[in-house]
Amino acid sequence: MLVALLPGDGIGPEVITEAVRVLDALALPGLVFEKALVGGAAYKATGHPLPAATLELAKRADAILFGAVGDPDCDNLERRLRPEQAILGLRKELQLFANLRPATLFSELTDASALRPEVAAQIDMVIVRELNGDVYFGEKGMRKNADGKREGYDIMSYNEDEVRRIARVGFETAMARGKKLCSVDKANVLETSQLWRDVVIETHAEYPDVALSHMYVDNAAMQLVRNPGQFDVIVTGNLFGDILSDQASMCAGSIGMLPSASLDANQKGLYEPIHGSAPDIAGQGKANPLATILSAAMMLRYSLGLADAADRIEAAVAKALANGARSPDLGGKDSTTEMGDAVIAALT
Ligand code: IPM
Ligand code: MG
Repeated sequence: MLVALLPGDGIGPEVITEAVRVLDALALPGLVFEKALVGGAAYKATGHPLPAATLELAKRADAILFGAVGDPDCDNLERRLRPEQAILGLRKELQLFANLRPATLFSELTDASALRPEVAAQIDMVIVRELNGDVYFGEKGMRKNADGKREGYDIMSYNEDEVRRIARVGFETAMARGKKLCSVDKANVLETSQLWRDVVIETHAEYPDVALSHMYVDNAAMQLVRNPGQFDVIVTGNLFGDILSDQASMCAGSIGMLPSASLDANQKGLYEPIHGSAPDIAGQGKANPLATILSAAMMLRYSLGLADAADRIEAAVAKALANGARSPDLGGKDSTTEMGDAVIAALT
């Protein structure tokens, strides 16, 4: 089984190194890694954030373990050359339309949550975010309006097939958990959201055992901090999911803790921490590698059929935290490598 390693920018290489050390420690037979450049690192070396060789490797691999992209040096490049285009390009080219972002709070970390411990302790949800459409991929541009003023625009749209396939992932995810699905939209204002809501309701007929509710995104943002325990599975569009999943991460202790899976229709996937490249702390050994290590566990479970190994990693992370491992984002002083060491030492 071939795993493509795409470390990328900022803290990406540091956290990927730790995830690979953990995978190596499991000594899984038949697992091979191949590394490629992506993001700002790829732009600087080749002139493109998603070089053809990287895309080819990603297509050939059974799964992709991704670090992060984003580099302030590249902020003034034209958009198609910016590091972020690499992850957006991979999601689109490989049709990775279903982004699963679990938000659970390790009991050891209730104090690290931005919420009161008794509220935070209830968090156990999965955000299912659509990744191939919405305002991310609509027509966009800069123009001058009739008064000669500059105007930027990004068109938001979803077609019913796109909504139906992500709605099904939401319902399936709910079926495998607490059988509650909350669809988040802005149907009081947006036509895109009205279609979203109509199609989710239609799709519900295929999943009568799931309790479906609907929430406007502004209310959802409020409910996430007021009472996150009410959510089991949230299904939402690309933009709302981007925002709500960052918010959920702070409720769950730290953005350094949350993994994610981006899957195509055949469970092939790209796995990445939801945090970004964090250029401000890059190269200082301060990054928390646990989100990436947990992403590697998701990869074993969803794309490589190695659920036992995934369980072992997740148990080791919990044990490392119970043993006191804490990177700076969790209020401690452990370095990136020490966090990796703590997980490896906790593997049974
Ligand atoms: C994420 C990130 C990306 C996104 C960026 C890097 C393009 O914020 O994966 O959540 O907006 O999807
Ligand atoms: Mg984001």
